[in-house]
Amino acid sequence: MAEKTFYVTTPIYYPSDRLHIGHAYTTVAADAIARYKDLRGYDTMFLTGSDEHGQKIERKADEAGKEPQNYVDEIVATFIDLWDRLGIDYDQFIRTTDNNHEEVVQEIFKQLYEQEDIYLGKYEGWYCTPCETFWLDRQLEGDEKVCPDCNRPLEWVEEESYFFKMSKYADRLLKHIKDNPKFIQPESRRNEMISFIESGLDDLSVSRTTFDWGIEVPVDSDHVIYVWIDALSNYITAMGYNRDESKFNKYWPADIHIVGKDILRFHTIIWPIILMALDLPLPDQVFGHGWLLSDTGKMSKSRGNVVDPIELINDFGRDAIRYYLLREVSFGADGTYSTEALIQRINSDLANDLGNLLHRSLSMVEKYFSGEIPEPAAETEFDSSLKELAAITVEKAADEIEELRYTKALEEIWQFVRRANKYIDQTEPWVLARDENNREKLGTVLYNLLESLRIIGILLKPFLVDTPAEIGKQLGIQKEIKDASWQDLDWNGLPSNRTIAKGEPIFPRIDLEKYYEEKEKLNGAKEKQEEEIVEEEGLISFNDFQEVDLRIATIIEAEKIEDSNKLLKLQVDLGTEKRQIVAGIANYYQPEDLIDKQIMMVANLEPAKIFGVKSQGMLLAARDDQNEELTVISPAKPIKAGSPVS
Ligand code: MSP
Repeated sequence: MAEKTFYVTTPIYYPSDRLHIGHAYTTVAADAIARYKDLRGYDTMFLTGSDEHGQKIERKADEAGKEPQNYVDEIVATFIDLWDRLGIDYDQFIRTTDNNHEEVVQEIFKQLYEQEDIYLGKYEGWYCTPCETFWLDRQLEGDEKVCPDCNRPLEWVEEESYFFKMSKYADRLLKHIKDNPKFIQPESRRNEMISFIESGLDDLSVSRTTFDWGIEVPVDSDHVIYVWIDALSNYITAMGYNRDESKFNKYWPADIHIVGKDILRFHTIIWPIILMALDLPLPDQVFGHGWLLSDTGKMSKSRGNVVDPIELINDFGRDAIRYYLLREVSFGADGTYSTEALIQRINSDLANDLGNLLHRSLSMVEKYFSGEIPEPAAETEFDSSLKELAAITVEKAADEIEELRYTKALEEIWQFVRRANKYIDQTEPWVLARDENNREKLGTVLYNLLESLRIIGILLKPFLVDTPAEIGKQLGIQKEIKDASWQDLDWNGLPSNRTIAKGEPIFPRIDLEKYYEEKEKLNGAKEKQEEEIVEEEGLISFNDFQEVDLRIATIIEAEKIEDSNKLLKLQVDLGTEKRQIVAGIANYYQPEDLIDKQIMMVANLEPAKIFGVKSQGMLLAARDDQNEELTVISPAKPIKAGSPVS
């Protein structure tokens, strides 16, 4: 019989910033299904990686004063470290700068070009660099040219470009989506994608000429391949497409691509069309999960509200974080991260319900049976319902995990945890222990409790990393839990006559107030230290500098301000908008000499009235007071108005 395989992917991450808890969310979710399939005996392939090309990365590297490759190498190392700390058990990590990937992407491009699915044309339109997305006028609302996804200003792009004939495949794609209801999940997002395709697909610009950090177009060295064509192909280049036929045939098509809702469109429109054009089968499913927001909105570095997963792991341990991510927000919907809710979950579910069950049960085995697991013998009236619930829980948990309903799966498991705690209250082992005649009953009760814990330990293996192992260790069956598969979830799997190894409670309770007090103290000390260094050296931080939005503008009009000797009123073009600024340069420049001159300006300065005239920004100039000289700062060569200065 052919081996059962299961191929799951996360998106490959941009190494433009450090990862936050929202990124960890996607990866933990993919890890859970991969671990579950492992338990069920599948040959599982779990792929993650990094998406390293494109203008955004090139600019970031430039800002950091590094070569792009060095820049991404450093950040990718932090990704790998984070996944290790979180216990992400991926099988393969692809980097889009891997030679093999780059070569195969070129082959893909070449094939599509040769079969005339890619052709040369001219692109004119709007581009969002942070999202690496093209937008047409009709896709934008109102006059403001901002990205519909991230709300940041768009850049006007006019360049020769290769185009991918997406329109040719639109009907076929629509039919596939309609015929395969599970292809896009959850349902609401599927409908969104259908309407998007029904509103018409344009051919996609798939090459750029204005920067170099990308894979060269194989038929034209002036162009680099559009970063999404490069990135999406990772799912097949990593599986040996065009290189290792047996690996490719083994794993492709993928069983599931797990992605955030923001990139669902790329995965359910561009990606399937690339595959159709290559005559390859489509993945079984693309699942678009919701956003994990911070209590103050979408996490972003500029808002300063990103939650650092490493800090959380250090403070609470990786299993608490994994549990929280999978339990708190129903997978698919948006959810809010809050430290209060995390601590609440740790205290109630992990410490109180699970931690207590383990600790209480083991304490009684120590006390009444000198730490030896007793044999089950005489039954009590409460046993059968506990066993029944164990079997039902195993079945329901499996059904829920298969559909990625992790929250529900964990709810089912916790119902069983609570039921086992209730079983202690019902059977009252301390009362049974008083009478020697009840010795067998007492042994059965304790056996059943430990057996429940064994089952819980295995059921938690898809979700948590250290806890199942710790439960196994304390029960004296470390190896059995480590090697367990789903079949071992049948009742009576616990060997008796083993010696338990009771340890510390697995999740100590956390005092919310104390936690915050300590955090504040620590943060206060850290900030003070940083301030002292800055004060001592008279330096500002990089973040402070980044707050200033410096841009190049072109002067369109200039005139003297009446009654003022020093001031000029300038109208400037900032690319996406016009601004009026007042500048104290009248002693050095004649208005007419300034027309068409490019200047550098602070674009995010609070507007002010100077001599009764509105000023929306500040021009930068260098002054030599001794010689009474002044010169405005201009770029060394002409550049598009609005270009950021960094
Ligand atoms: N590089 C592209 C993906 C290319 S896949 C062929 C990308 N990278 S990313 O680093 O910006 O995002 C990676 C994943 O993290 C995406 O699935 C994205 O939706 C997810 N998340 C980023 N922030 C998130 C939250 N705040 N909440 C949940 N997921 C979020 O996109």
